[in-house]
Amino acid sequence: MSIQAPRGTYDILPGQSEKWQEIEQKINELCRLYQYKEIRTPVFEHTELFQRGVGDTTDIVQKEMYTFQDRGNRSLTLRPEGTASVVRSFVENKLFGLPDQPVKLFYTGPMFRYERPQAGRMRQFVQFGVEAIGSKDPAIDAEVISLAMELYRSVGLKRLRLVINSLGDTESRLAHKEALVAHFAPRIDEFCSDCQTRLEKNPLRILDCKVDRDHPLMATAPSLADYLNEESQAYFDDVKMYLEELDIDYVVDPNLVRGLDYYNHTAFEIMSDAEGFGAITTLCGGGRYNGLVEDLGGPESPGIGFAMSIERLLLALEMEKVEIGKSQNLEVYVIAMDESAKKQAFSLLKDFRANGISADMDYTGRKLKAQMKSADRKGASYVIVIGETEMASGKAGLKEMATGEQQELLFSEMAETIKNRKTLEE
Ligand code: HAM
Repeated sequence: MSIQAPRGTYDILPGQSEKWQEIEQKINELCRLYQYKEIRTPVFEHTELFQRGVGDTTDIVQKEMYTFQDRGNRSLTLRPEGTASVVRSFVENKLFGLPDQPVKLFYTGPMFRYERPQAGRMRQFVQFGVEAIGSKDPAIDAEVISLAMELYRSVGLKRLRLVINSLGDTESRLAHKEALVAHFAPRIDEFCSDCQTRLEKNPLRILDCKVDRDHPLMATAPSLADYLNEESQAYFDDVKMYLEELDIDYVVDPNLVRGLDYYNHTAFEIMSDAEGFGAITTLCGGGRYNGLVEDLGGPESPGIGFAMSIERLLLALEMEKVEIGKSQNLEVYVIAMDESAKKQAFSLLKDFRANGISADMDYTGRKLKAQMKSADRKGASYVIVIGETEMASGKAGLKEMATGEQQELLFSEMAETIKNRKTLEE
């Protein structure tokens, strides 16, 4: 049997890769406008980073990590997300010492989670994420959210819904935690074994449980919104005020708890309302993590960020029937009729490419007619045929495919002529 790509992974072939390139260009441009600078971190890290960073009780750490021993007996893990790595790097490289805080970073790269694959849920997927570390100004929360919304808008998505919530500060969360324990403890034996562990370790996670989501106690569980202290409430109000300032619509959902442990205050998700989506409609998730830098050994540096997968963005584009990433047509196709013409054709290609003109020729010895068809399929703007006569005169016809018009030119004039025509068209 032939070898296939592992379950939950896939190849991005020409035809699709142009879409990825266009999205990556949009990401680079947007991050330039917002002044987020690129960071690239390793694809694998010490397992402990994610246990401490993402949280020991999360599904990601408990069930979804690709963890392995290397030959030196270290426990390493393929990164399941980017925030822990970025914060590790922020601490390790002492970025907290830079004069300009917050440090605004972005990344794009593959992440790995052992999940059950389905549309929009892969085992290897690519996240674009940003992290702004070193400020607890609510305006930066709104900036980060607006960057995510802007990326979706810039690729042409319209059916978006921004959902926000506040998870409050430590004090608010503790008060809420106590209320949750009091609420669930009397009937915890009716819940799954995971939830029984969560009750002790992290009762907030119970609200996120997929197994027990229809249990009647879920609907009546105490809402964090009722436990926010004054400071947390004021912070949340300011975030909302800044979002309104940016004309960004949002819905407050007090049940939005994110699946990672490091969050406090602002949490948000961007969902697609496009028809045809399956169960998964969350395109992007993020929030504030004020204690994470300290948890990973750095000084107090509050942070906020988000991540979105390109896979889900592409899915949303498909559902909204938005086309992006049209492949660039070939500019010149050169046809050689014999061996000596081939050398001339080959050197013409060099000339064209050096002048920024895309050029190609046949490498399989096909007849004239087959080569003409190939030029057509590639959408060539110009075709040049070189045979004995052309070799003798040093001239050939430059045929414009759209009009059928042909201009006789010296080989040495070809690149310059096309370049001039291109400038005229622009
Ligand atoms: P997350 O909610 O685990 O958050 O993932 C963020 C996004 O990654 C999801 O909304 C989705 O677009 C994408 N995603 C997650 N898992 C998969 C998958 N198996 N297949 C395809 N796409 C997937 C985080 O990762 C946090 N680090 C976000 C963050 C950054 N918070 C603060 N800063």
